[in-house]
Amino acid sequence: MTAQSSRADNDLSAPNDLEAWWLPFTANRSFKARPRMIARAKDMHYYTPEGRAVLDGAAGLWCCNAGHNRDEITAAIQAQAAELDYSPAFQFGHAAGFAIASRIAQLAPGDLDHVFFCNSGSEAVDTALKIALAYWNVQGQGSRTRLIGRERGYHGVGFGGISVGGIVKNRQFFGSLLAGVDHLPHTYNRAEQAFSRGEPEWGAHLADELERIVALHDASTIAAVIVEPMAGSTGVIPAPKGYLQRLRQICDKYGILLIFDEVITGFGRLGTAFAAERYGVIPDMITFAKGVNSGTVPMGGVLVRKGIHDAFMKGPDNMIELFHGYTYSGHPLACASALAAQDIYRDEKLFERAKALEPVWADAIHGLKDLPNVLDIRTVGLVGAIDLASRPDAFGARAFEAMDRGFHDHDLMIRITGDTIAISPPLIITEVQIGELADKLGKVIRAVA
Ligand SMILES: Cc1ncc(COP(=O)(O)O)c(C=O)c1O
Repeated sequence: MTAQSSRADNDLSAPNDLEAWWLPFTANRSFKARPRMIARAKDMHYYTPEGRAVLDGAAGLWCCNAGHNRDEITAAIQAQAAELDYSPAFQFGHAAGFAIASRIAQLAPGDLDHVFFCNSGSEAVDTALKIALAYWNVQGQGSRTRLIGRERGYHGVGFGGISVGGIVKNRQFFGSLLAGVDHLPHTYNRAEQAFSRGEPEWGAHLADELERIVALHDASTIAAVIVEPMAGSTGVIPAPKGYLQRLRQICDKYGILLIFDEVITGFGRLGTAFAAERYGVIPDMITFAKGVNSGTVPMGGVLVRKGIHDAFMKGPDNMIELFHGYTYSGHPLACASALAAQDIYRDEKLFERAKALEPVWADAIHGLKDLPNVLDIRTVGLVGAIDLASRPDAFGARAFEAMDRGFHDHDLMIRITGDTIAISPPLIITEVQIGELADKLGKVIRAVA
């Protein structure tokens, strides 16, 4: 590209070149033919460049739990930028980083009291997998290298994440992945679970598949199991009742580390700070990102149990204990925004609010049951999913149209995966807005009948 940048190129009111930005996880040609442009946001709404208010049914991308453009978070980012723009986290530290690490550790259950920062959910997953492998090395059990994920799991897009992930499209084009990976079966079964509210009754026994995997590979080769407490990106699959508890028991039996990927479920989405609390299960590590600062500045991290952290704290004092980290780990702006977001969560009791709204939410979303093409509806916490029947020979086309028409014609932002609509509003949503969201969703589903 040879054009010199000019003031006109920086005019954001109407960008004249939509070609250069290759959008991630997007049907680019379709987007560029009929763009869904967003100009600003406030609280429960996005606003288009023309000023149309679009109800945010997705918390952006499962991340803006405190709603949009909260003044306190904006002010914290501005103040931090004016005070300390960047500070290296390799061999140096800053107050906001230590403060937010303690805050997050206090929210976590049990002795999950150390935090390793990175910049995204994908990095959090790769970090957790690396800590698991390194832990077994420092423990003198270097044969434990196998990582167990789950079908229909989504753990971001790093090579570690796609290896343990269970989405074929995210894997098939990228050649050989991490060796020594196996997968548990996913836990969705429509015949047994259709129209479930909260955790389905059926499916705890699927955790026993870990026994089969252990019998096949031997526990001495297995480092860790990683699962989302609620599989989000593949269409909202809540854990069956008792499933996660059973997984914990089997991991304990064989000394296998258990990692909960809470990139979506962290920070209130299921009505508790972490899903681990909702299920009364203490994993060995928790990955988080998104909601940590309500999506305002890229940030992710891994909560690590004391015993795992402490196992690394040996050797000469001047020796680096874990050869891992990112230039932007614990970036001052991310930390400041996270502190402000956590204040909002605490002061407005947003996690408790999500819990209190869960039945209202479930009623509203399940109220769409009889609409055309609805095959299943699932709700848990402030999350919902609606499976639509696929059009003949056009898998995904109906939900894609629902997303597009939702935005353009019904002022509603939703997420889609295949022919499933996923909804996860900011936790500040009111009961009236839940009704409004369900109403708009109903119109969208009818429109794509
Ligand atoms: C459970 C889970 N893990 C990891 C990721 C990856 O996060 P990021 O897109 O920030 O890399 C996501 C993103 O949606 C996720 O849902």
